[in-house]
Amino acid sequence: MKNKPPYYNSLDKIYSKIWELLKLGLEHRDKSFHIPVFICGNESKFDGRIVVLRGINSKENKIWFHSDKRSNKIQILRSNSKGVFLFYDKDEKIQLRISGKTKINFQNEITKNSWKKTAHMSRQCYLGEMAPGSEVFEPTSGLSDDVDNLKYSVEQSEIGYKNFCVIETFIQSIEWLYLAAKGHRRAYFTIENNFVKKKWLIP
Ligand SMILES: Cc1cc2nc3c(=O)[nH]c(=O)nc-3n(C[C@H](O)[C@H](O)[C@H](O)COP(=O)(O)O)c2cc1C
Repeated sequence: MKNKPPYYNSLDKIYSKIWELLKLGLEHRDKSFHIPVFICGNESKFDGRIVVLRGINSKENKIWFHSDKRSNKIQILRSNSKGVFLFYDKDEKIQLRISGKTKINFQNEITKNSWKKTAHMSRQCYLGEMAPGSEVFEPTSGLSDDVDNLKYSVEQSEIGYKNFCVIETFIQSIEWLYLAAKGHRRAYFTIENNFVKKKWLIP
């Protein structure tokens, strides 16, 4: 079994590895798991977009990201709360599809705590007057010159809180794919009432 990772033939170790990779992605900007694709949709339209992984909780089986509550994906999630994250780490050769039910947090304890920790620079995203995705007739960032140049105080940035939301995904399933020359492995985890069912699939 030369060169095979320790989790190669163990569902338990794969499950631990998943949360290890998520933690690394959360804490390190240069890791691919830092910026997954988040997919949601309704009957007529599905779409994916890159988001920044902002939090994980392995005990409650949830992960989350921040967003502008005026953005299109929030409208979509209001009609269909199902969301899917797609992660890929090229060095580890691991793809994850994490799906679950989402909750839009807005002006509650969760958003209050997250907003407090949102850095000066990141607050810029919430300081535009027009909603993300609005049509405009000139090329623009949608921000005033001062905001564009990060010339705003912490107090001035507080106005962005009215647009800030935290999208939590309560995980229902995780699909793991390890695609490697030494032989592929695919596993599937379902989570119900915090109980994790683990099984192998053909890759
Ligand atoms: C590197 C990177 C990080 C991003 N992070 C976020 C994020 O954390 N939250 C978010 O709502 N959009 C983020 N975006 C922008 C989204 O990809 C998307 O363009 C935007 O949210 C509008 O999507 P929507 O119209 O589907 O709502 C990020 C984009 C890039 C390229």
